[in-house]
Amino acid sequence: MSDISVDTSKRRFLVALSSAAGGIAAVGAAIPLIGSMMPSARALAAGAPVEVDLSKVEPGMILTVEWRGKPVWIVNRTPEMLALLGKHDDKLTDSASETTSQQPEYCKNPTRSIKPQFLVAVGICTHLGCSPTYRKEVAPADLGPDWAGGFFCPCHGSRFDLAARVFNGSPAPTNLVIPPHKYMSDAKLLIGEDQAA
Ligand code: FES
Repeated sequence: MSDISVDTSKRRFLVALSSAAGGIAAVGAAIPLIGSMMPSARALAAGAPVEVDLSKVEPGMILTVEWRGKPVWIVNRTPEMLALLGKHDDKLTDSASETTSQQPEYCKNPTRSIKPQFLVAVGICTHLGCSPTYRKEVAPADLGPDWAGGFFCPCHGSRFDLAARVFNGSPAPTNLVIPPHKYMSDAKLLIGEDQAA
């Protein structure tokens, strides 16, 4: 993986953070009287839940938001992407998400999600903490003919599928973390709070 790809990934994350900050500032200016009801910067840093408008995430695309100082990805997985997920279980370290620390119980399923369409995952490699790059292409030249879309960590080459499950032979020991989350409506996701049991 070249340095150019690393830079592109970082830039994407920064753009997403800038957009989120801009949105909060605009709301604060328009409705000053309820400013005290908005989560403070300190509360956000400490882990206040983050609301995401899913209508902005086109099919096949990824949105990165910040929660507790970490990048959290939201990927809108197409039916074609989902169809490829079940075809490489034998090549995964933990295909059935048996490591309980890596996802809430309600995401211990083949798509590691509440709704199969949306992957919500912490974008930090479980090896040494780099942020993997979203590589949705099938069989790109640099990742090989078996690549069915997923995430590639540029630091030491860990590979993850589109359910953020790690492939055998990667330095990363476990799947990426799925954070607590729930749906407020079809188009509103809340990251940082568990769905009701
Ligand atoms: S930090 Fe991702 S492979 Fe090492």
